[in-house]
Amino acid sequence: MRYTPFIETQFPLARLSAESYKERKANVGQTLTGLGKWWGRKPLILVRAAILGLLMPASDKPERDREIFYKILTMDEDGLWRRKTKALGASGIAQSLKPEEYAGRIEVKAGKAAWVSGVMTEQKEALEKLAFARLPYEEKLTYCCRPEEIEGPSAKAWDEINAHLGTQAHSLQELFAELSEKAFGHRARVGDCFCGGGSVPFEAARLGLEAYGSDLNPVAVLLTWGAINLIGGGKDVQEEVRKAQEAVWHKVDEQITAWGIEHDGQGNRADAYLYCVEARCPATGLWVPLAPSWVISEKYRVVAVLRRNDARQGYDIDIVSGASDEQMRAAKKGTVQKSALVDPEDPSRTYPIASLRGDQRGPKGETIYGLRLWEKEDLVPRPDDIFQERLYCVRWITPEGERIYKAVTEDDLERERKVLSLLQERFAEWQEKGYIPSKKITPGYNTEQPIRERGWTYWHHLFNPRQLLVHGLLMEYSDEKSSMIKNLYLFGRVADWNSRLSGWMPHEGNAKGNNTFYNISLNTLFNYSTRPLLKLDTVWFADYRFYLLSDRNHKILPLDARDVSYTADLWITDPPYADAVNYHELADFFLAWYEKHLPKLFPDWYADSRYALAVRGADEDFKKSMVDIYSNLARKMPDDGLQLVMFTHQDAGVWADLGMILWAAGLQVTAAWTIGTETTSGLKEGNYVQGTVCMVLRKRLGERRAWLDELYPQVEDEVKRQLDSMQKVDDVSQPQFGDTDYQLAAYAAALRVLTGYSSIEDMDIHYELFRARKKNEESEFEKIIDRAVSIATNYRIPQGISPYTWRNLEAIERLYLSGLELERHGEARHGAYQELARGFGVAEYKFMLGDTEANHARFRTPSEFKRMYLSANQNGNDRGTASFAASLLRQILFAIHVAVHTENPKEGLNYLKAERPDYWTRREDIINLLEYLAAGRSLSSLVHWEQDAEAAGLLAGLVRNDYVGSR
Ligand SMILES: C[S@@+](CC[C@H](N)C(=O)[O-])C[C@H]1O[C@@H](n2cnc3c(N)ncnc32)[C@H](O)[C@@H]1O
Repeated sequence: MRYTPFIETQFPLARLSAESYKERKANVGQTLTGLGKWWGRKPLILVRAAILGLLMPASDKPERDREIFYKILTMDEDGLWRRKTKALGASGIAQSLKPEEYAGRIEVKAGKAAWVSGVMTEQKEALEKLAFARLPYEEKLTYCCRPEEIEGPSAKAWDEINAHLGTQAHSLQELFAELSEKAFGHRARVGDCFCGGGSVPFEAARLGLEAYGSDLNPVAVLLTWGAINLIGGGKDVQEEVRKAQEAVWHKVDEQITAWGIEHDGQGNRADAYLYCVEARCPATGLWVPLAPSWVISEKYRVVAVLRRNDARQGYDIDIVSGASDEQMRAAKKGTVQKSALVDPEDPSRTYPIASLRGDQRGPKGETIYGLRLWEKEDLVPRPDDIFQERLYCVRWITPEGERIYKAVTEDDLERERKVLSLLQERFAEWQEKGYIPSKKITPGYNTEQPIRERGWTYWHHLFNPRQLLVHGLLMEYSDEKSSMIKNLYLFGRVADWNSRLSGWMPHEGNAKGNNTFYNISLNTLFNYSTRPLLKLDTVWFADYRFYLLSDRNHKILPLDARDVSYTADLWITDPPYADAVNYHELADFFLAWYEKHLPKLFPDWYADSRYALAVRGADEDFKKSMVDIYSNLARKMPDDGLQLVMFTHQDAGVWADLGMILWAAGLQVTAAWTIGTETTSGLKEGNYVQGTVCMVLRKRLGERRAWLDELYPQVEDEVKRQLDSMQKVDDVSQPQFGDTDYQLAAYAAALRVLTGYSSIEDMDIHYELFRARKKNEESEFEKIIDRAVSIATNYRIPQGISPYTWRNLEAIERLYLSGLELERHGEARHGAYQELARGFGVAEYKFMLGDTEANHARFRTPSEFKRMYLSANQNGNDRGTASFAASLLRQILFAIHVAVHTENPKEGLNYLKAERPDYWTRREDIINLLEYLAAGRSLSSLVHWEQDAEAAGLLAGLVRNDYVGSR
């Protein structure tokens, strides 16, 4: 290795998390999401930072390295200023500066800020710059575009970058070319064999590097291909795409207009169709329209009202606009509540949907579905099916642009019949040509749901005749090679936004249809929406930002990761580890639209989902495939190549397994970092936070063997070294690392030592990895990792506790205090407390939790503990709680409670002195602990500690003044 990459020494987590979060929050505004749905796409900024971190050499000036890293990514002050797209305005400036700083230039009256007249533009800009500089990083981002949306660093920044790195670059591409040349002697080859939505290959190509992307699933590969060739095609391709899309759109529009299937003949055009399922009520025998709510538009107070009609053995559905409060209330109570049909004649009568379906238990406890399974030709339910389907409302748009909601008329039904017959005429031919899906659904975890709940067995059953007819037409008119290659992925978008699983959102401003994959499943719906052509425009004409890639000749192909034959200098992968996403099942929803076209457009690709080869789960098969894949990647990199494995998982415990897998694959872990990709400030509010862990790996070269007794001291040294170096680079004004980062760093440090050896004692890593273990049985490797965590946890003393006191404490006491430290840092995830307990080797800790809700975890205060778990009060104490009950800390907490309860700190002191024969020998510890507990008072977020902290402070004073001489 010719250099130590920056990412092996540091990775600026706080800013990167904020940038990743900003990118994720841009939703449809993200660069690649517009191409189509893929689950778990990695933020491009994270990929850019990772590639830079891998290629940029670390110097002996870590702080300067970090500044330069920020400059390249335009995450420094100058870069942020260049990215600023929104003005702070007088009020923003007044909020961030002191009045004396803007006096005479901004006037604040009645809470409103305005520029004083006559202030020059330069003066305004200077003030704004000052105010902007004062904002915390995350707030700055609210005024900025993303780094990818500007050219890159300024000329001045380039001078500094070049001076530090010894380069001569004036663009990102030039810089990455030079860094690659220095690192590998050629343009770096960056590969991802789980490329999914294409973030890694796209970003690598955008930086001018050679990109390789493969994925088992051809849908993912199509998206990656589209990222590079369409989004990366620049203005010319943009124009061609637009032309191809417009040409098809106009032809379809003409055809639909000629058929008259979306016009009412009175000048109105359809804007949305609402359908619902109907089922017979067992009590009345009437067909009941089903929906969890009959509200159609919250804002315009539009509701559907059921009116009994015995002649049709069911209900008519009226549509009321401007509904009364009473009608709104009634509509909110739908005819499906808690998975049961509610009889409109007597709402106290409810019938579980599963029993209406007729599901039964088989002899082996399995479910036997009650619904008839649809056959290929079925497009709508048959008359004797349990569930029928019915159009119940049409929203029209008038020539003046007004939206009106109407009940279904006989003309509408006639148009429905026409749609069905037009589709039937084309059905066989269109399936044959692949204009509509013809693929059978392979039952699986997610795909079984539509089969069980509606009897749908083919993918086209997930679309109604209207949807199939419009989509089929779009496809038919796209069917020529030059159009199809530009339009194909659009059918994924159209399918996502217009299926029988597209819900209706009455609460959104104008009320609108939802997409199928608003969550990661295939949930069937009782009422859903259908988009007429007009409403597909935003889906069809996706608004992309195009980039011109200097070279689009990259390798993109569908392939099982075990078979990769490409050699990359940098592998950046994000495996489907213990993932909740069943890519191979869900992607079939899209593949059903593509499968007949892919072979024509990409003759070298396969067009099925290769179910059996998908990496999934976390069991033995999974481990085996992962070892095979990463062993292959280790072979397919030069000796000085690097890998980055990304992995989003909440449970740090799965770390040991992944570490072992990578070890068994012949790789050595050299660093690990967590980036909060889902939320950042949420961390402080205790929200759900998901971190993406990035592990840096190298090929393990040579055979080294270690003995356990020499390993432990090495692990200990490495953990301490790691934590010290992190503390050294940590930014006091804006901490880079949280408690869990330090913990993860400890794992990484242990893995770094361990994975540097090819064997330990006589243990065989493959054997250990696959050995069947009893529940809770730890492998030797896990023990070493646990040991590392325990070293780390004990090494990190909460601020304010002296090392001397810390040494005198039991594990359970250390756990309690470190838990308070977590709380003081705003950490409220249960998992963090669990990890901490694990680090201290404390099995029984839940009894200390004051709030057990998932994201509100914290330890009890003294006043909440009251007498519980006190040695003097043995009731209810068991083995797990006994060490806490007998501890000094527990008695200190109780003394605080006594002081609060009696409103007399002296009482607390008396208690302590009476109960602790070692009061005088441990006096220093007592003072230290009380002062630590008292410090919680200064944190406004800890209101529940207010009284206790105050009492702790008073008690500390009493103990301090309690001299031996004063006895
Ligand atoms: C977590 S995703 C990767 C997401 C990607 N990094 C992105 O930014 O979009 C994991 C990917 O692994 C793919 N996959 C599963 N089994 C595979 C196999 N045996 N070979 C190659 N890819 C596989 C899935 O199709 C999925 O796209």
